[in-house]
Amino acid sequence: MRKYRKQEHIENYLKATYQGDPLFKDVFIEHYSMPDFAYDDVDTSLNVMDKKISFPLMINAITGGTDFAESINESLAHLAKDFNIPMAVGSQTIALEDSDAIESFKIVREIIGDGLVFGNINGLLGLEDAKRAVDMIQADALQIHLNPAQELIMEEGDRDFSQVRKNIENIVQGLEVPVIVKEVGFGMSPKVVKELYDLGVKYVDIAGFGGTNFFEVENLRYPQEDYSELFNWGNPTALCLLLAKDLKKKDLTLIGSGGIRGAEDCLKALALGSDFCAMSGEILNYLVRGGYDYAHLFLEQLMHKMKILMVLTNCKTIEDIHHTPYRIKGTLKELYCSC
Ligand SMILES: Cc1cc2nc3c(=O)[nH]c(=O)nc-3n(C[C@H](O)[C@H](O)[C@H](O)COP(=O)(O)O)c2cc1C
Repeated sequence: MRKYRKQEHIENYLKATYQGDPLFKDVFIEHYSMPDFAYDDVDTSLNVMDKKISFPLMINAITGGTDFAESINESLAHLAKDFNIPMAVGSQTIALEDSDAIESFKIVREIIGDGLVFGNINGLLGLEDAKRAVDMIQADALQIHLNPAQELIMEEGDRDFSQVRKNIENIVQGLEVPVIVKEVGFGMSPKVVKELYDLGVKYVDIAGFGGTNFFEVENLRYPQEDYSELFNWGNPTALCLLLAKDLKKKDLTLIGSGGIRGAEDCLKALALGSDFCAMSGEILNYLVRGGYDYAHLFLEQLMHKMKILMVLTNCKTIEDIHHTPYRIKGTLKELYCSC
């Protein structure tokens, strides 16, 4: 069952047509005409979990568990290695239950070597499973995904989320590597970010609304049912970031994701308070539709465009982007000002 589901998630993601809006279009960043450094002096590197990465973007959790998933993970891992950026594997539950699925996850560590690799489980699993997931790929950190919306429309999905808080707390206390708690595209409200912080979580991935839409992706598995009225449900990424920034603590790392499609989105997510960004759907799109070289070119171009935008905002480093002024307008302003 899980194997078919993994396959369907990728196929359905590629079939999905609903276009959500992460509201990055409502963020305005001023053009700066008198930059005081050269393009070649732009430094996009940063430190994450004591390792230096070359660009503030991570390839976020997508897949694992089948032969097809293994070939996708293999390509994604080569991209992550080539660009020296982190990569998270997809949910490892399938490999915790079936040892035949392990290789499709381990291949990521084998390719990436000592670069950053993150494991992934759902919030319904406990500390022992968390440790096994980390050991499986010598993960530098473990992602725990919160996906109640997705589970609730899956026929075989979970219905009881009452243990999730306790599981997260136990895992944070008992695991030797950091824990990243993430959504899957419905966005984290500031209340959830604050509750996670109070549980001891130091890395939160917003995974907001506006990119991959798991209501639609799951609905495509059940064509006899119609969940389309829910397709616009979720907290848009730009709003989540603005609200999370307001309660930002020094020791909380915020990952901006959900609908990141290019360099301008990355720049805006960083300006709104993300420490770094993450992308799943868009890179999967380029890889499956266009092949490895196309996906490679896409990332190369994204990084080049980001450097151009950094010159045009007089930001020599990623830290500078966190201080670059921005204005908000339209729906984002209305929502933010009414919060
Ligand atoms: C095909 C597919 C499979 C996914 N599988 C997982 C998963 O196993 N675990 C997880 O935490 N997130 C999973 N995600 C969610 C992404 O990690 C990400 O949070 C979400 O897609 C929003 O980012 P995006 O708009 O850049 O795609 C998946 C996304 C896609 C497109």
